[in-house]
Amino acid sequence: MTKQLFHPTICWQNGAVKLIDQTELPLKTKYLYCRDVKTLWHAIKRLSVRGAPAIGVAAGFGVLLGIKDYKGKDNKKFLKDLRKLCDYIGSSRPTAVNLFNVLDRMERVAEQNSHLSVDQIKKLLKAEALAVYEEDRRVCRRMGDYGSRLIKNKQSIMTICNAGALATVDYGTALGVMYSAKTAGKKFHVYACETRPLLQGARLTAWELKRAKIDVTLICDNMAATVMKQGKVQAIFTGADRVAANGDSANKIGTYNLAVLAKYHKIPFYIVAPYSTFDLKIKSGKEIPIEERKPDEVAGFRTIRTAPKGIKVFNPAFDVTDHSLISGIVTEAGIIRPPFKTNIKKIFKCYGST
Ligand code: MRU
Repeated sequence: MTKQLFHPTICWQNGAVKLIDQTELPLKTKYLYCRDVKTLWHAIKRLSVRGAPAIGVAAGFGVLLGIKDYKGKDNKKFLKDLRKLCDYIGSSRPTAVNLFNVLDRMERVAEQNSHLSVDQIKKLLKAEALAVYEEDRRVCRRMGDYGSRLIKNKQSIMTICNAGALATVDYGTALGVMYSAKTAGKKFHVYACETRPLLQGARLTAWELKRAKIDVTLICDNMAATVMKQGKVQAIFTGADRVAANGDSANKIGTYNLAVLAKYHKIPFYIVAPYSTFDLKIKSGKEIPIEERKPDEVAGFRTIRTAPKGIKVFNPAFDVTDHSLISGIVTEAGIIRPPFKTNIKKIFKCYGST
């Protein structure tokens, strides 16, 4: 296993969820302690904790917060209340399927053990949430090792948003590939797109890669085409929030732009995503719900207003990249190549349903 680069973005500590408040980065490294599920819900909504795998881990811990003071003894009532709790946590953000996959896992554990006492079920739920946390750490390193083979010495690569340690427990998906390539002794350079409107690229990816001593250059999103045209990019790696059964992938708004540009400039475009980000129940990206966020995020940044008051704004947080634009999907089970529909099924044959 590759060595630890970062402290956990999120963890369970003394009956509370401790997480780095990502809205404050890179100016301040502040931790937020969520002692009740409502506080955690708001932390997800506000993007204090963000990135599909980290949101999944938060969902598991959110269930623990919601049940920790549960005193009832009636199993049936407990299961009913648990379902309500999961629905509430699931209402925080709609696109990252990790959130729903983890909530399903938690509900399944309770249902399969409904013959046990409420206290016993609570213990099993805690074990499951901690298993989700540990799996994320393991799986990210495995994806990193597969994906690092795609980076060649002296190459320059591009990424968008933050699919790093901050988007997972402590390593990352797309950035995990870069950490593994560095550990393998490769020398390469990264262009990080700033990622308007909330600047996850400028605030988080630039911060993370700089701390990890990876050579990184920040660009505005609208500079990507020029940088590609100048022959400065040999591969693109991004994360995903939900991958459909045919390989269509939702990720941060602007990812689709990069994929279209990559096709035109004949640059390979890779998605890096664990099994927990796949939604094999949906046939294509058309079925992926896309979160729309508040107009204020586009009309300004933090407390600074940049657009005129009352301006109409469209603010979808994610877009869907058609599978035909994707060269490969790096997963913990290996790299999936087209035709995705067949090969996704093949590679995850022995996995349980998500
Ligand atoms: O709105 P965000 O910051 O949660 O969006 C995150 C992304 O789009 C990431 O690229 C994606 O979740 C993959 S993270 C490993």
